[in-house]
Amino acid sequence: MAKQSLSFSCSNCAHISVKWLGCCPSCNEWNSFIEQKATPTFATSGNTSPKKVSLSKGQPVALHTLSSIHTGTHKRMFAGIGEWDTVLGGGIMPGSLLVLTGDPGIGKSTLLLSVAHKLSQTYNVVYFSSEESLEQVKLRAARIGCTDSPLLFSDQARIEDILQTAQDHKPDIIIIDSIQNCFFSDSYTFPGTVGQLRETSFALMRLAKEHTIAVIITCHITKEGQMAGPKTLEHMVDGVFYLQGEDRWDTRILRSVKNRFGPVYELGFFAMSANGMEEVPHINQYLLDETAHAPGAMLISCLEGTRPLLLEVQALVVPTKFNVPQRVITGLDHKRVVLIAAILEKYLHIKFSAHDIFVKISGGIKINESSSDLAIALALLSSYFQQALPEKSLALAEISLTGSIKPINGIDSQLKEAEKFGIKHLFIAQSQKNQAPSCKRLANVYQLLGLFESPKA
Ligand code: TYD
Ligand code: MG
Repeated sequence: MAKQSLSFSCSNCAHISVKWLGCCPSCNEWNSFIEQKATPTFATSGNTSPKKVSLSKGQPVALHTLSSIHTGTHKRMFAGIGEWDTVLGGGIMPGSLLVLTGDPGIGKSTLLLSVAHKLSQTYNVVYFSSEESLEQVKLRAARIGCTDSPLLFSDQARIEDILQTAQDHKPDIIIIDSIQNCFFSDSYTFPGTVGQLRETSFALMRLAKEHTIAVIITCHITKEGQMAGPKTLEHMVDGVFYLQGEDRWDTRILRSVKNRFGPVYELGFFAMSANGMEEVPHINQYLLDETAHAPGAMLISCLEGTRPLLLEVQALVVPTKFNVPQRVITGLDHKRVVLIAAILEKYLHIKFSAHDIFVKISGGIKINESSSDLAIALALLSSYFQQALPEKSLALAEISLTGSIKPINGIDSQLKEAEKFGIKHLFIAQSQKNQAPSCKRLANVYQLLGLFESPKA
């Protein structure tokens, strides 16, 4: 009889070792190794060489040509919440496995409850709230105003029970909030560990595909800010959606980073209110209402997914009190702002190195696009000269290291959006003159000085 071999497995990340280790080399967790009886994955022929895999143990499977495969007439399931449906690529695809992730407390459960409530008007939806008790869910529903919903709830977290309930009840959609609390009763790892996440998600994927039930799971980002959970699941699920935002701002952004049935990097906007998460369909109007005509403010446009966003860059330039000037940047790449300040210093001889620079983007939104270069430069100069730029003006161009102003891609849709919101002054590269005949065109950074009437340097 073959001797049964022992191995040790990390209860945090399922890393396997032939001997016990104090610290896991994969996830650096201490004291996480548990002894387990190794079960050979492949059937071996004889007991002489364990590497020899038997070639005659399986069953032949049916093979299909593409024309013989029936795709069915699955219709996407609309929630009727425009921002949600857009980000999902036009509603939830039956039988898909989707992950909604984000920081704890960002509003995943609130958003999902609103979406589930809307979906339950048309579809059979079951909400497994493994993180909160049924009383807590009812209190949330009362806040959102959906206590009369036909939604069905359970606070079960045992995955075998969830799978059985789903197969018996045959819902169109199940929601699992959150996957980090779900567990297999016979598993040797803890709920929320990478090993358990893989096992539970794999079981849910099979449920989704074999029974055509759409499954939406929520997953937190780890406390270190890493997306360990969602990253582990990314390859096996059909869609990964991040809910982002900053605590200070009500705005929440739903971003698709993977979507087998729709566009990626599509954005949806919501606002967290006292009565749940409300969609913000006219985000540009919402953002523009908050802008001010003041020195240091400049509008930019950036393309997120398929939507051009109009945002405000705010800059504050003040003489420094320290030997090393401060650079405090929010919502933009730190290096980009430092680079633009260096270009302006080099070509316009403005001593930004003797000034503290503070720059931020309105609305708590983060951007990292080179098309924002000119707007950053104009905002810095506007604050430096303490002179406001013309009201409702927008800049759209890249600045090269040699001080020339470069054209950007996809300017047409951004100019159209700008026109829609009554933008009166546009600053773009000289070579893009065909796109907007009535705008101010710039070839190099020297021309920026001409925009300010009484430069003090
Ligand atoms: P929640 O949806 O529980 O976040 P997550 O599931 O991502 O952990 O949201 C919790 C926060 O949202 C909490 O700070 C309270 C706030 N909130 C509102 O502001 N309005 C509401 O209507 C609800 C239900 C929650
Ligand atoms: Mg939650």
